[in-house]
Amino acid sequence: MVIKNIRIVDDTQDFIGDVRVESCKIAEIGHGLHDEEEYDYAGTSCALLPAFTDLHVHFRDPGLTHKEDVVTGSHAAVRGGYTAVNLMPNTKPVCSSLEQAQDVQRRVAATGLIFANQTLSMTKNLEGKDFSHLLPLKKNEILFVTDDGRGVDDDVVMEQIFLICKERHIGIMSHTEKSEYSKVDMRKAENAMTFRDIDLCRKTGGRIHFCHVSTKEAIEAIARAKAEGLEVTCEVTPHHIAATGEEVNHYRVNPPFREKEDVEALIAAMQSGVVDAISTDHAPHTAEDKQNGSPGMTGLELAFSLCYTKLVVPGYLTLSQLVKLMSTTPSAMMKLNKGRVQVGMDADLTIVDTDMKYIVDPKEFASKGKNTPFAGWQLQGRVLHTYRAGKLVF
Ligand code: NCD
Ligand code: ZN
Ligand code: ZN
Ligand code: ZN
Repeated sequence: MVIKNIRIVDDTQDFIGDVRVESCKIAEIGHGLHDEEEYDYAGTSCALLPAFTDLHVHFRDPGLTHKEDVVTGSHAAVRGGYTAVNLMPNTKPVCSSLEQAQDVQRRVAATGLIFANQTLSMTKNLEGKDFSHLLPLKKNEILFVTDDGRGVDDDVVMEQIFLICKERHIGIMSHTEKSEYSKVDMRKAENAMTFRDIDLCRKTGGRIHFCHVSTKEAIEAIARAKAEGLEVTCEVTPHHIAATGEEVNHYRVNPPFREKEDVEALIAAMQSGVVDAISTDHAPHTAEDKQNGSPGMTGLELAFSLCYTKLVVPGYLTLSQLVKLMSTTPSAMMKLNKGRVQVGMDADLTIVDTDMKYIVDPKEFASKGKNTPFAGWQLQGRVLHTYRAGKLVF
């Protein structure tokens, strides 16, 4: 097929042209291309982007499938323009084995909609102590380990994990929250563990990825660590840049919605290239679980619109820069052959309408999680279609 006369945008280009797709891959990019099937976008406000990749997603499968499962989660992903997700291990049971990870990955693949990588926990049951399940892992056998949902409080345990992962080329994704501060000072909880992990990164020569960075102090420390040459990467969520705590009535999420200065610091870090990826931290919960205090919000289906509205419309980022954060870099971090509109790459493509405005209605979500503080918000920029390996999946 050929998608014609459309604005083609990735981290390296932004122009109007045609893309030809043949046997799952991007075969040709140019002007005046032809094929049997043709879709002409001349005169529209649509853009063709490399489909998004989300490094931080909770599908709750197995064990918590009243909140989400691999099928509803995959549908939510393609509706949000995503064709690849990195799944967190805080399921029931916690994912600590290759067998469980492969089972989840197989079941996601069977939906035919997206690619999923399932991460393993860093410690047994996310208890922050026993990491013996990591020892048998071979070099490059898995991409990431994480205790997301909790921080590893014990410095010695964390140092050991750094060393084990360094040897095996495994990425660490750190949910930075020092539990002794969780009840009293959530800012200090994030900052203290971020500083600790940077120190351990320096000491061990290891590598770390910081999840959902939300404070000015944490992002500035990460900027210094990068300038120093440490192997540090980080992600920011759409929700932490879209609103302050006041603006969403302190809707419960970890880390919490922050202050105006924090939002400004995160945006500045996106502009300067300190932020590597935008990750949703898609955290679906039932209404009842939310009422009982479960933190988090559903994210996949709103991410592009929130980011376009809050980052591109006001001119903080170009669409190219947004695509780099939502697709190019996270795809590279997951070692996928996608993330750019480039000949030879997988034809994982998303078509968005950058002018379309709409009111957020959680009833429209494919996700079981209707939990969001953004219901009723007017957003601009909407995902219209998603292709995976050349096949229309949304
Ligand atoms: C996440 C969840 O519900 O699993 N909740 C959240 O508030 N972000 C856990 C996490 O990402 O830390
Ligand atoms: Zn023609
Ligand atoms: Zn987390
Ligand atoms: Zn999470």
